Amino acid sequence: MADKIVLLGAKGMLGSEVRSLYAEENLKTFDLPEFDITDFAQLQKAVDNANVIINCAAFTDVEKAESQYDLAYKVNAEAVENLAKIAAEKNIYVIHISTDFVFDGKKDSPYEETDTPRPINAYGRSKLEGELLLMENHQNCGIIRVQWTYGKNGNNFISKLISLSKQRDSLKVVDDQFGSPTWTQEAAKVIHIFAENKHRGLFHYAAAEYASRYEVAKFAFGKLELKTEIIPCKSDEFKSAAARPANSRFCCDKIQSLLDKPIEMWQKPLERFLKTI
Ligand SMILES: NC(=O)c1ccc[n+]([C@@H]2O[C@H](COP(=O)([O-])OP(=O)(O)OC[C@H]3O[C@@H](n4cnc5c(N)ncnc54)[C@H](OP(=O)(O)O)[C@@H]3O)[C@@H](O)[C@H]2O)c1
Repeated sequence: MADKIVLLGAKGMLGSEVRSLYAEENLKTFDLPEFDITDFAQLQKAVDNANVIINCAAFTDVEKAESQYDLAYKVNAEAVENLAKIAAEKNIYVIHISTDFVFDGKKDSPYEETDTPRPINAYGRSKLEGELLLMENHQNCGIIRVQWTYGKNGNNFISKLISLSKQRDSLKVVDDQFGSPTWTQEAAKVIHIFAENKHRGLFHYAAAEYASRYEVAKFAFGKLELKTEIIPCKSDEFKSAAARPANSRFCCDKIQSLLDKPIEMWQKPLERFLKTI
């Protein structure tokens, strides 16, 4: 019998890509404003008949998380604990999405799943708490940390740069933060594989190889033939409430061993994405 899959955060950047991989009749979807993951009764009702839950719901505004930590914690940690407890009672398999922001970015090589998280901002702390509370309360789950995601339904580094390019002749982009831009369409395919195979444990997923944000911007603007000049700068030139890790690189060997195709270098999916916009 086909799995009954419930997708939380279905209207978000990643959730909407996951949603597009399923026929409507095989997936129940939930999101704000009709559904609030922090409401225990609503959550219980939403996942009642599921045998797979995909949690893409999250408080994702990194800057606002500094001043609205209570809400970030409620969505990213407390609600995930409730989800874990509800799922544990019925042994429902859960896929939960987390982030590179659980790390401080001080390591000088790619982060592995066994590395100790040390978040440097409120969003990262709330997401780490969510991971820990899930693992503590429910073992039948796969946690996939993603990084630097971009996609069509969301506010992200790539879409912000493109929209700023329409207003400016030049743009400063940091060249001291390194990671791998990862298309939500590719991440959604991985989530689909997890839902099929019920892989358990903690995994890192990102496009292969890495670059600085400056290099990513140069690449995207080159492909789009945008005339706006990209000027390299350092993170401390930007005033922001939340600190960002300098190194977001992931070692993806663990998740690669579960996938039937090699993870592509970041340039290829980004080029395909840019052709869609
Ligand atoms: N974007 C990135 O660069 C990035 C990087 C690493 C990891 N991640 C992780 O990837 C996952 C998916 O994020 P995303 O990029 O798709 O972000 P997103 O576009 O902000 O999607 C999150 C979704 O969750 C919804 N949501 C927020 N609070 C909720 C609540 N109380 N109840 C129900 N739904 C709620 C949001 O609704 P509203 O839009 O109405 O608030 C939104 O539809 C998250 O776990 C995030 O932490 C993202």
